[in-house]
Amino acid sequence: MAWHQLCNLSTLKNGQGQEFLVGKTIVALFLQDSKLYATDGMCAHQGGPLAQGLVDGECITCPWHGWQYDLNTGNNLRTGKKMLDRYDVEVRGDQVWIEIPCESSEGASTAI
Ligand code: FES
Repeated sequence: MAWHQLCNLSTLKNGQGQEFLVGKTIVALFLQDSKLYATDGMCAHQGGPLAQGLVDGECITCPWHGWQYDLNTGNNLRTGKKMLDRYDVEVRGDQVWIEIPCESSEGASTAI
């Protein structure tokens, strides 16, 4: 695992997602009610861009076909099965950092 700097906290808007490429991993970062969540950026169904989805509490709804996931666990809300990886995030100063497995995170992180 390795930590990567993602962005300045002030660039995030409550209730909206932001997509990042961290090495080879697409990540969706969400700020919701002063909490940060990070998951796979691509929906487990057909790869929809979860960062563009609707956030409601701790639920993210994919913008393409409406699959819903728990932001805390990555579980699909209909099946209860874990379908998304989730990542630890923390704020250091005014910067948001994310922990990603090393093999998929070599290289810089970039907002996309
Ligand atoms: S791609 Fe997300 S619900 Fe279909």
